[in-house]
Amino acid sequence: MKRGYESASTSVGPPQSRQRLDPIGVSQFLEEDESTKNLARKVADHYSARSNQTLEEREASPIIHLKKLNNWIKSVLIQLYAHRGDVVLDLACGKGGDLIKWDKAKVGYYVGIDIAEGSIEDCRTRYNGDADHHQRRNKLTFPARLICGDCFEVRLDKVLKDDAPFDICSCQFAMHYSWSTEARARRALANVSALLRPGGTFIGTMPDANVIIKKLREAEGLAFGNSVYWIRFDDEHADKRFKSSSPFGIKYKFHLEDAVDCPEWIVPFHVFKSLAEEYDLELVFVKNSHEFVDQYLKKPEFADLMRRLGALGDGNQDQSTLSPDEWEVAYLYLAFVLRKRGQPDQNRKKSSRANKGPMQISKDDVMYINNDD
Ligand SMILES: C[S@@+](CC[C@H](N)C(=O)[O-])C[C@H]1O[C@@H](n2cnc3c(N)ncnc32)[C@H](O)[C@@H]1O
Repeated sequence: MKRGYESASTSVGPPQSRQRLDPIGVSQFLEEDESTKNLARKVADHYSARSNQTLEEREASPIIHLKKLNNWIKSVLIQLYAHRGDVVLDLACGKGGDLIKWDKAKVGYYVGIDIAEGSIEDCRTRYNGDADHHQRRNKLTFPARLICGDCFEVRLDKVLKDDAPFDICSCQFAMHYSWSTEARARRALANVSALLRPGGTFIGTMPDANVIIKKLREAEGLAFGNSVYWIRFDDEHADKRFKSSSPFGIKYKFHLEDAVDCPEWIVPFHVFKSLAEEYDLELVFVKNSHEFVDQYLKKPEFADLMRRLGALGDGNQDQSTLSPDEWEVAYLYLAFVLRKRGQPDQNRKKSSRANKGPMQISKDDVMYINNDD
C-alpha cells in the first residue's frame, strides 16, 4: 500500500550531514531559535495545566475507551520487552500513568523525565501513593527518580551518568514533540542511544504520519477530524505536499477531547528509522495501532488484559465499548520498538541499582534541569 507521506527518493533520511562530529552527534545542529523554545514551552504549559481527574471524571470522559485502549497498548509493549530487575528510563513520563505497568513487570529502578512541572508533581504524588489515584493499589516496589526538563534539548547522558546504562527506554505518545527541528530530533535519539546499554530496548508510541497525511489529502481543506478530535494544518501546507528534503518542523494543531490541545509535528517514520540507525538504534518493528491491536488481541494473555481494562467492554455486563470515532483516533498512532546495537554484557549485575533512590520522593528530590546544567 502506498502510504501518505511523500518519500521522493529511496535513499531518504536526514537531509543534512550524516557525519558524526561529536560522540553524541548533535552539536552541529544546535541552532534552536526562540520560537522553537516557545513552542516547547506551550506544549509544557498545556500538559502542566491538565490536573488529575477523579475516577468519576475519568469514567465520564468521551474518550475513556480510547484511554483504556492506549493503556492496553502500552501495557503490552511493557510486558513484551521489560524484564524483572530492569533499569527503566521513561522519557516524557507525564503524570506517571505507566508506573503500575512497570511495577507489574517487576522492574528494579525507574527514572522518569517530563518537561511539565505539573505532570512531574502528579507523578511524584502517584509514586508516593499520596494522591487519591484510582489506579493506585499497593505500594510500588521499585525505587525511582524524577526529573523535570526538556529531554529533547538537554544532554541527558551527563545528567544521568550515575543511573545509566538503562535496559529499557520508553517514550509514550511524546516522541513527535521532538520533531520540531532536526537538532531536537537528533538530541532525542542521541539521548536514548547514549543511555541504553548495548542490546537495550526503546519502546514507544507516536502519531502515524502516513495516516495523518493521507487524511489531510482526503480532506477538503486543511482540517479534518470527528466528534472527539480535529487536526488542522497551516496555510503554508495548502498544496498538501511535503518535501522529503525537509522532514522536520511540519507543524499541525491537534485537539483531542479531554486530552490534548497543542502543536504537534509530523514524524515521517522512514526518516525516524534512518536517523535512529545513525544513533545505533535498529528497528525491531513498527505497527499502526489497528494492526497492533489485531495482532496482540489474538494472544490469550493480552485478550484477558483487554477484558480487565475494559476498553472493549468486559465481555459480561459491561457492554460499553470503544466508539467508531475513538477507533479512528487509535488509527492515528503507531507503536515502535528499536534495539540498541551491540551485545549485552553478560556479567553485568542488574540489581545493583535496585537499592538506589528513595521509596518516597520529596519535592526537593525532584531535579530540575535546563540546557545550561
Ligand atoms: C500525551 S502525554 C504522554 C505522557 C505519558 N508518556 C503517557 O503515556 O501517559 C505527552 C507528554 O510529553 C511531555 N513532553 C512534551 N515535550 C516534552 C519534552 N520536550 N521533554 C519532556 N517531556 C515532554 C508532556 O509534558 C506530556 O507529559
